[in-house]
Amino acid sequence: MLSAPFFDPLKTYYQNWEEGPFNGFKDGVVLDEGPAQFDFLGTRISYPLGIPAGPLLNGKFVKAALDKGWTVPVHKTVRSHAHPSNEWPNVLGITGIDGDLTLERAKDPIVVKPEYKEPLSITNSFGNPSYEPEVWMNDLKDSISYAKPGQLVMCSFEGTKREGMSPEEYVQDWVNGMQMMKDAGVKVLEANLSCPNEGAASLLCFDVPKVKLIATAIKERIGDTKLVIKIAYFSDAELRELVSEVGNIVDGFAAINTIPAPVVNPDGTQALPGAHRVKSGICGHAVKWAGVDMVRRLAELRSELGMRYAIVGSGGVTVPDDFREYRDAGADLVMSATGAMWNPYLAKEIKEKYPNG
Ligand SMILES: Cc1cc2nc3c(=O)[nH]c(=O)nc-3n(C[C@H](O)[C@H](O)[C@H](O)COP(=O)(O)O)c2cc1C
Repeated sequence: MLSAPFFDPLKTYYQNWEEGPFNGFKDGVVLDEGPAQFDFLGTRISYPLGIPAGPLLNGKFVKAALDKGWTVPVHKTVRSHAHPSNEWPNVLGITGIDGDLTLERAKDPIVVKPEYKEPLSITNSFGNPSYEPEVWMNDLKDSISYAKPGQLVMCSFEGTKREGMSPEEYVQDWVNGMQMMKDAGVKVLEANLSCPNEGAASLLCFDVPKVKLIATAIKERIGDTKLVIKIAYFSDAELRELVSEVGNIVDGFAAINTIPAPVVNPDGTQALPGAHRVKSGICGHAVKWAGVDMVRRLAELRSELGMRYAIVGSGGVTVPDDFREYRDAGADLVMSATGAMWNPYLAKEIKEKYPNG
């Protein structure tokens, strides 16, 4: 059953940042974290479950997630300079799709409205806003300090292409941002190569030579600190190429982000304000098929190519059996954003149903 969300879609990103989290994430209940019995990229963790980059805007949200047994929370994507949020609204419900959002279906408009029901799918459109590094680095240090033994706080970063920047400076922006997260104490860094809400014609993760360049430069700088890259849904051939090229450079792949689709109001008009927001990322139940499929293929490629990268699965985990599906497909770590937002006790339910992970 859906409860009231810990991120309030009726408020802006900034109001949520200042006033949140809400509802179940501020009920004061702190759950025990069990003994650390799993390994994730060299860190002992108590359970292979987390919340991916997105709904955890700052340390207050991260702390609430840790208290509710979300073992590996990821702090929302940050940037090397302050960056504004897309205009409100940023989250709307999808009521017209009960089954899978296939890539074919995602070509046609999807009706969105401020209504949330099961099976839960939503669109989210923030454009990766960020406070200044000074603010988020301090906030990250706090976030990490809240982790109990067996818990691991990650953070996500996205490079920014600014007016007049050379390609080298752009790569350097990624490297510097990753270094800032490392300096704040993050042990597993995530590079968000798959944000669909910026209006770029194509996602960075599909440009394999550029991904290789950026990943190599980051790893050269951060050394033994772990690097996970967050990617979108890939076709078979594209995924084979990506993994062949960077599977031995990065330490893990996180998949999927969202599936972009045109979003409209019930009367057919554009739902989100702004020329670059005709399409918006869809997440939740409707994209689970894509996340599970990517995890399965990443696991197959890992064994075929004799690689060792970790696999983080996300997309549509809204009930405990979704967690099981991801684990069976080969995920080392499973994450839930949409499902967690409307059910803070989902981690508890998953752990109770599958105590052995
Ligand atoms: C409110 C919200 C904000 C998000 N922001 C980010 C983000 O900043 N960086 C990122 O890599 N993914 C972001 N995502 C995508 C999630 O990390 C995840 O990949 C996607 O939502 C699929 O998981 P889900 O079906 O459990 O929501 C966001 C998702 C939601 C729901």
